[in-house]
Amino acid sequence: MRVAMIGTGYVGLVSGACFADFGHEVTCVDKDAGKIDALKRGEMPIFEPGLSDLVASNTRAGRLKFTTELAPAVSEADAVFIAVGTPSRRGDGHADLSFVHEAAREIARALEGFTVVVTKSTVPVGTGDEVERIINETRPNCECAVVSNPEFLREGAAIRDFKHPDRIVVGADNARAREVMSEIYRPLYLNRSPIMFTDRRTAELIKYAANAFLATKITFINEIADLAEKVGADVQEIARGIGLDNRIGSKFLHAGPGYGGSCFPKDTLALLKTGQDHDAPLRIAEAVVAVNDTRKRAMARKVSAALKGEVRGKTIAVLGLTFKPNTDDMREAPSIPIITALQDMGAKVRAYDPEGMEQAKHYVTDVVFCRDAYDCAKGASALVIVTEWEQFRALDFERLKSVMERRMLVDLRNVYRPDEVARHGFGYESIGRRRRR
Ligand SMILES: NC(=O)c1ccc[n+]([C@@H]2O[C@H](COP(=O)([O-])OP(=O)(O)OC[C@H]3O[C@@H](n4cnc5c(N)ncnc54)[C@H](O)[C@@H]3O)[C@@H](O)[C@H]2O)c1
Repeated sequence: MRVAMIGTGYVGLVSGACFADFGHEVTCVDKDAGKIDALKRGEMPIFEPGLSDLVASNTRAGRLKFTTELAPAVSEADAVFIAVGTPSRRGDGHADLSFVHEAAREIARALEGFTVVVTKSTVPVGTGDEVERIINETRPNCECAVVSNPEFLREGAAIRDFKHPDRIVVGADNARAREVMSEIYRPLYLNRSPIMFTDRRTAELIKYAANAFLATKITFINEIADLAEKVGADVQEIARGIGLDNRIGSKFLHAGPGYGGSCFPKDTLALLKTGQDHDAPLRIAEAVVAVNDTRKRAMARKVSAALKGEVRGKTIAVLGLTFKPNTDDMREAPSIPIITALQDMGAKVRAYDPEGMEQAKHYVTDVVFCRDAYDCAKGASALVIVTEWEQFRALDFERLKSVMERRMLVDLRNVYRPDEVARHGFGYESIGRRRRR
């Protein structure tokens, strides 16, 4: 199959490289010439484990190409994927569909022969209808079918997720389009990843329902963690105790500083707006969004409480800036409101992240970016683990002791065991477990 991928960001680049790896001929298109030039030189615009090798081998094999020219890529393609961004619209929280609509117009002008236009971006229900309308308006009588194929990959494990998905969801009403989609994903369902065909609107809503449900699970356990802290229970044990129930499942029950990232915050918000627009308010999702919003700054208050309020003029060391490990993505990372709240309290912030510091510079100011965890801890009154990168899991406490002003670890990801930290003579604050100071 010949595939054109419009938008070469996290989703477009990973999907394009994986499709090429399945044996398809893929052209990744982006209007960001700098990104395309870098990719042509073999430089990855994002940090994602395994991506560089996957792109290199498929480029070498001649199956993966990069260009800023949309028209030739689209005219030759059997399927054109739209993988452009759908950020929150400023002011009202609806999904901003301007990139999707613009891509649809450009695609329409270039279509030749029967082509399946596939929306891979996360888009509100009804967007496929609008894409179809735009295409028909721009190119009346063109031969094409508009399909929804939401993407469920997680940053940091994107290639594995793409190649071993729990399911592939395809919303398509047209039989020929279903055949093309089956052919594109054949290597996967031969590997037993179920491909689920449904109608377009259902597919669009599946993506939002999935993200809202996962965000709900996280928020639920976060609130249980707060209660556990107050009553002297242990949220880790509670998560295990409920997660062993198959009806609940153990995933997404890790209490922490609140969800962030490029998807959950904007997608939960967009779902609320869709619900309101259709007079079907989603009260549970509304509560999830509200609870999560206030949680991040509350984490700064946790740091302050650990230091008995002595934050002004003190140095706080923040370990981990990205919204999760194994990515350099800083979009909506909990570290941002935590750092700004600490600064509002008068703290000086030092920070270290293995991959995210370049991106972080666009999101926070007046932060001293450090070489490693120990450099970061220099002179600090508290060390705060915000993102659980592997390298923060076995810190050398003796070394930390020698550089920190006060021995206090605030572990917002429950990486350590309280007794272990206490043994090293550190005060310890974590999420949903008994306090030790
Ligand atoms: N990042 C994730 O983990 C993830 C997971 C699942 C779904 N999604 C969804 O996938 C979509 C893309 O997300 P992302 O994180 O890859 O976004 P991104 O911002 O990383 O990439 C989008 C790319 O599209 C390009 N672009 C925009 N308009 C274009 C046009 N007309 N022609 C060519 N290129 C164009 C931009 O230059 C950018 O490089 C979003 O809807 C997102 O919600 C993301």
